[in-house]
Amino acid sequence: MTPIDHIRRDHDTLTAIRRDLHAHPELGMEEHRTADLVARKLEEWGIEVHRGVGGTGVVGVLREGAGNRAIGLRADMDALPMEEATDLPFRSTVPGRMHACGHDGHTAMLLGAAKYLAETRCFSGTVNLIFQPGEEGCGGALAMLADGLFERFPCDAIFGMHNRTGMDVGTYAVREGPAMAGGAFFDILVGGKGSHGARPEEGIDPVLTACHVATALQSIVSRNLSPRDPAVVSVTKVTGGDAYNVIPQTAVISGTARFFAREVGEEIEDAMRRLAEGVAAGFGATASLDWRLIFAPTVNAPEPTAAVVDAVRDLVGEAKLITTKPPVMGSEDFSFMLEQVPGAYLNLGNGPGFSPHHPGYAFNDAAIPFGAGLYARLVEMGLPKATET
Ligand code: NI
Repeated sequence: MTPIDHIRRDHDTLTAIRRDLHAHPELGMEEHRTADLVARKLEEWGIEVHRGVGGTGVVGVLREGAGNRAIGLRADMDALPMEEATDLPFRSTVPGRMHACGHDGHTAMLLGAAKYLAETRCFSGTVNLIFQPGEEGCGGALAMLADGLFERFPCDAIFGMHNRTGMDVGTYAVREGPAMAGGAFFDILVGGKGSHGARPEEGIDPVLTACHVATALQSIVSRNLSPRDPAVVSVTKVTGGDAYNVIPQTAVISGTARFFAREVGEEIEDAMRRLAEGVAAGFGATASLDWRLIFAPTVNAPEPTAAVVDAVRDLVGEAKLITTKPPVMGSEDFSFMLEQVPGAYLNLGNGPGFSPHHPGYAFNDAAIPFGAGLYARLVEMGLPKATET
């Protein structure tokens, strides 16, 4: 019997957990009820539990046999600040909060793998079950790392997954190398000199300066980066001024940049600072850049990627494996963990429907045994029981 078939016996239990989480969504770093539910389930199944890792994070540890290798499996637990627009019977009970990215499903899948591994114990080594808070730009991965995640729970390889709308349930997608972009948010404060709107000669106009800076920023991707380095620079917000007849003192340009290598992100940051300061100086104004790296690029290491490929083939066969999906410009903070421990991040089919972050999005419970089963198989194949040789 494959882990998928085995875990199907618990499908009702896991679905009930998933729907309970869905009805009680919590924002990043505030997952108190969720973390408590996760910890209690792990304890119920006889798994060693560490609460409060990086805020509301939970780590379960399963040891078996004499194997000295360790695998980390990671799921995210947070919901989004948005109103749910489904009429599911287990829809969100909290106004303005919704599990619109399926992290409730991710949590249920990792719990399913935990229960299976605790029961069957067909591995030799250590499994670290990492339930991460605050993935949605809230710094949850970094909080766990700052709390000594991999010093306290050393791992030789780590794995994570995200559901994907439009891929059939029971299919898996993975690719070696860059899989998702790194992302930074930026604010450029342009300083001028206020004056009457009818007497521009007495001031330095930060609004006109900001417009020129915003235009100049579009030359970074086209002129400063190699065409072989895909990247995005989007100015998404320009603010400044309060009145029709007042030239304000300041204006602010804000936006996001995406890139597939940290060095490319640094090139963008340098070019942005140079352009902003230089263009502003030309107008007699000043500019200062505040650049914040929110997500590192998600880069899958060769060996763990091959392990995913092997596990998928073993579980469901070659036909259910997709290795041709191009990298996406979206971001994921599992990337910060992947910078410290080699690992792989994969996509799991969620069937048709709305994409994540849409108010009508719905996680497909049929995917639970496939996600949990793959986690389990990665452990069984990565930490094999000693066999007679
Ligand atoms: Ni997500």
